[in-house]
Amino acid sequence: MLASYLLGSLSFAVIVSRLMGLSDPRSYGSGNPGATNVLRSGNKLAAVLTLLFDALKGAVPVLLVQQFGGAHGLGEATAAAAGLAAFLGHLWPVFFRFQGGKGVATAAGAILALNPWLGLATLATWLIIAVFFRYSSLAALVAAVFAPFYQLLIWGLGPTALAVGAMGLLLIWRHAGNIEKLLKGTESRIGQKAARPG
Ligand code: G3P
Repeated sequence: MLASYLLGSLSFAVIVSRLMGLSDPRSYGSGNPGATNVLRSGNKLAAVLTLLFDALKGAVPVLLVQQFGGAHGLGEATAAAAGLAAFLGHLWPVFFRFQGGKGVATAAGAILALNPWLGLATLATWLIIAVFFRYSSLAALVAAVFAPFYQLLIWGLGPTALAVGAMGLLLIWRHAGNIEKLLKGTESRIGQKAARPG
């Protein structure tokens, strides 16, 4: 769990931006260290790499438990807890003074690894809202509401449903500022560049 948390604490928005010589994503746009905000720098590759690595850090701990945990009596509960620990690391990263992101990509990675069909359904939900409304935050919020229900209704209550529910609640809470902007009509759309691009 500690290793998952530490892996989750690697804020790839900051790391990728630094390695590519871009501005720190905490200094422009929404100030969020996440792929959506890195995209506001105008550098699509940096945004894609951030998305990929933030998702991988959610998926890898789960996949490791699934692959090697069985021999040690570790099952779904441990895998779900490992995904949740990585997600918590992203929100409160020990390496970045506990100032983390909103957890969308990391939750997506963890969910895809925990239950690939649930992951695909959740991604499809995100995509539909993103394509129709062009708001990354709204897409994440709708996906966060739907994911625990998909899991509960199709696969029933269990460790995965509890972890997905916890991630969904925390994710919604972290989007409080986005909800306010969506209601005011001031939220920026996907691809809209920041005033001071990195
Ligand atoms: O992935 C986070 C997204 O849902 C919102 O990001 O930068 O618009 O606050 P941002």
